[in-house]
Amino acid sequence: MKGFATPLQPADIDPRKRRRFSTPGNPSLNGPQSQCIQAQRAGLPIAMGKDALIEEIRKNDVSILVGETGSGKTTQVPQYLLDSGLAGQGMIAITQPRKVAATSLAARVATEQNVSVGALVGYSVRFDEASSDETRIKYVTDGMLVRELLGDPLLSRYSVVIVDEAHERTLRTDLLITNLKDIQRKRNLPSDAKGKGSVAKLNPLKIVIMSATLDADKFSNFFGGARVTYIQGRQYPVTIYHTTVSQPDYVEAAMRTFWQIHMDQPPGDVLIFLPGQEDIEGVDRSIKLFADRSPRELPSIVVCPMYAALPSSQQAKIFTPAPPGFRKCILATNIAETSITIPGIKYVIDTGKCKEKRYVARDSGTGFDTLLTRDITKSSAMQRAGRAGREGEGFCFRLYTEEAFDAMRESAEPEIRRCSLTSSMLQLRCLDQDLEELDFMDKPDQEAIGAALKTLYLLGALDRKRNLTKLGRDMAMFPLEPNLARAVVASREFGCTLEILDIVSVLSASSKPFFDSSDEREAASEIRRKFRHRSGDHMTMLNVMRSYQEIAASEKKSGRKDWCRKQFLNERCLAEAQEIRDQLREVCSRMQIDWHASCGEDEQPVLKCLVRGLVQHAAYLQPDGSYKQLMGPSIVKIHPSSSLCDKKVAAIIYDELVYTTHIYARGVSAVPRGYIAEVPILNIKGT
Ligand code: CDP
Ligand code: MG
Repeated sequence: MKGFATPLQPADIDPRKRRRFSTPGNPSLNGPQSQCIQAQRAGLPIAMGKDALIEEIRKNDVSILVGETGSGKTTQVPQYLLDSGLAGQGMIAITQPRKVAATSLAARVATEQNVSVGALVGYSVRFDEASSDETRIKYVTDGMLVRELLGDPLLSRYSVVIVDEAHERTLRTDLLITNLKDIQRKRNLPSDAKGKGSVAKLNPLKIVIMSATLDADKFSNFFGGARVTYIQGRQYPVTIYHTTVSQPDYVEAAMRTFWQIHMDQPPGDVLIFLPGQEDIEGVDRSIKLFADRSPRELPSIVVCPMYAALPSSQQAKIFTPAPPGFRKCILATNIAETSITIPGIKYVIDTGKCKEKRYVARDSGTGFDTLLTRDITKSSAMQRAGRAGREGEGFCFRLYTEEAFDAMRESAEPEIRRCSLTSSMLQLRCLDQDLEELDFMDKPDQEAIGAALKTLYLLGALDRKRNLTKLGRDMAMFPLEPNLARAVVASREFGCTLEILDIVSVLSASSKPFFDSSDEREAASEIRRKFRHRSGDHMTMLNVMRSYQEIAASEKKSGRKDWCRKQFLNERCLAEAQEIRDQLREVCSRMQIDWHASCGEDEQPVLKCLVRGLVQHAAYLQPDGSYKQLMGPSIVKIHPSSSLCDKKVAAIIYDELVYTTHIYARGVSAVPRGYIAEVPILNIKGT
């Protein structure tokens, strides 16, 4: 193909993945007939070793399971454990790093069990849960299980915890693994050693660690030499092409490659790996636009986006085969690398990019997480290529040179070494644990620990001796970032919980409320002028939420959508924010915070609460018109998307910084300097 070097016979793909198997791929997923589904289950690679696998888990407290993506680990292992009685009376938890994986896998396994989600098979993710007393298999995000520790430190409801996708080494997965090791030690003591009390009644805990690509030795050593079981995978050869020259515009290159495949290559679905939701939405629009203009004789195209924040209503489309004569094109982030197996893929286009969370440290000893687009690792590249060879011979088009592949990192650094520890530190303090003393697979960085301590101190969650305060404990009750939780707790004092919950909910949604495509920016800004508040973006957001709530109360879904489209607002974000708001109201009620408390049209109390939470994100106007961070060395500009963009105000607070040609503050409000000076901690320090 044009622009690509001669195919590399799959030299750089892991030899394990090149074996040819005579077993056919899965039959298509047409129809919910349980017979067909049971046949599919029986045909999965993992089914062949089912009995041996159950035996391994029965014999060992900790088992490590490594098997090719799509072999059936995530969907089958919990069912096997339930069927074989290994879970006893307890529940089986299976963790996923991403929400969308947890919910879609629960849906699949519920179908396999012929039950509805929330009955025998359920899920629990941040701001969303489907489970009941009947639930025995629960798909959860790793973060949710860490959160459950706060109420149930021994996870006593669970008899088996399966840590899935362990290779991703998210911060929450690492925290969980550390705690599981300790919990197991406590729960599995011989009964005479347990002594009296509730612990003596606990059933023992089994731990299963699973992944497609795992540094199994590292996990095994951490668990004192735990046994590793490998599942024989099923993989057809994949021919890999690299570009001859590097492609700075990976989005454009991906589009070009897609159209070449679509025009020249035989049927088969295409999976394009892109770094994030924005790129995915852009490519989605472009493909649809071109498809409308393409020659009639070409097959039609079904485009399916897939990213962490995808609403569950749209997930089913990804797993549904395209109608005859159509070609499906899936646009995915690295979620489709190992967590989710999509049937029918013959062609993979790999941009070689992903988004990685990274902590940006500041000289002041504080810092924050940002998502940066960067090159993937060799391990990811191999997984991505592998997705083309699940059901037959496949092709992978890498939009980077062979030299670039050679220069890639082998695997990613664990998150605990590169992300903000603030939220985790708060949770651990609630469990009376100290991040510095815990037994982690990889120890966190001293500097990051210092920054987390400083942030929690500034938020008033820890005192000078690093002890958890009452305020800190209250903050931890909210499934929110500590700075937002701080604002909510402050609203009790300032009597504006109703308003703060609306704002915090929008900030916690997985997408942004305003559509901001550059071609419509002016029209959008004109229409949205009516929501604008002179103090800036937070109150503007509140105005939007208020208007949306009015519409939502009177209009049906289509009317709401229509209204949002006309205002250039993202309905998905606002609908999600409403759900989040309801959940946060429940948490408030449990904590006896009156969520009805309202300050009406007065913005002062709202801004005061936000300052308490965003005190580290404050900046003062300089004589030259720029803003300098209060607790950092940087000069920041107000982002063009902000309603304060061309204003000069004495002091600002902001939600986040964005790095492009400048350091931009996004989500900005103007606040009197006096509000910042009022923050109690700053007074103590005399800053
Ligand atoms: O965890 P692992 O990658 O080993 O496999 P899995 O997620 O358990 O998937 C096993 C099989 O179920 C794959 O062939 C998937 O295509 C299929 N599956 C599906 O059809 N629909 C889903 N929502 C999830 C899995
Ligand atoms: Mg899996």
